Amino acid sequence: MITNEQILEALRGVEDPELHKSVVELNMVRNIQIDGTKVSLDVILTIQGCPLKVKIQEDVENAIKALGATEVHVRFGSMTDEERAALTAKLRGGQPAAAGALSPLLSKESGVTFIAVTSGKGGVGKSTVTVNLATALARLGKRVGIIDADIYGFSVPDMMGIDQRPTVIDNVVLPVQRYGVKVISMGFFVEDNSPVIWRGPMLGKMLRNFFSEIHWGELDYLLLDLPPGTGDVALDVHQMIPQSKEIVVTTPHATAAFVAARAGSMAIKTGHEILGVVENMSYFECDDCGHKQSIFGKGGGEKLAQELNTEILAQIPLGQPDYDLNDPNSAPSVYEQDSKIGSIYMDLAQNIIKKS
Ligand SMILES: Nc1ncnc2c1ncn2[C@@H]1O[C@H](COP(=O)(O)OP(=O)(O)O)[C@@H](O)[C@H]1O
Ligand SMILES: [Mg+2]
Repeated sequence: MITNEQILEALRGVEDPELHKSVVELNMVRNIQIDGTKVSLDVILTIQGCPLKVKIQEDVENAIKALGATEVHVRFGSMTDEERAALTAKLRGGQPAAAGALSPLLSKESGVTFIAVTSGKGGVGKSTVTVNLATALARLGKRVGIIDADIYGFSVPDMMGIDQRPTVIDNVVLPVQRYGVKVISMGFFVEDNSPVIWRGPMLGKMLRNFFSEIHWGELDYLLLDLPPGTGDVALDVHQMIPQSKEIVVTTPHATAAFVAARAGSMAIKTGHEILGVVENMSYFECDDCGHKQSIFGKGGGEKLAQELNTEILAQIPLGQPDYDLNDPNSAPSVYEQDSKIGSIYMDLAQNIIKKS
């Protein structure tokens, strides 16, 4: 005979796929009825038309069938406004939903390591480095988030092959997860790739929202993909997250390194620790003969590292991931773990873990 307690115990192992908490803990399971080996119950969803309903249903059914039930009938309902408000309060760690409140993530005690990825100019691979470093850290078992802080020039969702939008419960936004990385980007909040036309103060406000309105859960690392240069957003990040560390990305070309030095000096002036330099597009290696050619020049990374009194963390060659439009597991800018460049990113991630 299956008991109520056994069912609740079994369902403790079933997580809401978005909130990553047990459906029992979230108080989503109600009205369990047992008739011999037939079980029926209500599962109350956070929002109506929850896209992951099928997954929850499967998980619930499997968990109960594993107890010996022959038939499981799941009825779906949705939370009342009050229930949802109680849940979002719980997600915020018991804090009221005060407008503009600082996220606990930003407090010194949060234990999160913030890493801003910066460069002097665009097109050197900041976003590519952010996305692949985040993925590599996640592959090493770390809990990782990305804030795509390039509010005008957002590109992270597309690079990671994300075509989903975040779920919003009341005013709490759940980041989209891809390759185990939680992502938030302005790209999720604009229609049809339309341009973002904003002035400085709006940018800072948006960045603040990326902390306070987002349910990040627990994180080890939060990477920020900054817009190029030393503009408003970079300044906001320096002020908002004084404890942030930085990685400066450059190409090996002398000019890129010269411009990147300015972003680096800004970090130094604002007291951000520079973890090091990533030299991207360092060389091209011939598949056939292994010859390395310095297509974009040589020495930029080293010169920059010297100037900023830091070290080169990685030199990443030219090359694209194996991207297949029809393969949902691949993405335009994420290298496979065991590819040449993918393994350089794994080394970079190990290096970062050691240093931070
Ligand atoms: N190592 C690399 N090899 C080949 N292409 C690269 C490499 N790194 C970046 N790219 C490409 O260069 C372009 C600019 O990179 P991106 O990461 O968007 O730069 P940023 O964020 O600094 O503007 C993108 O099209 C990206 O796919
Ligand atoms: Mg970018």
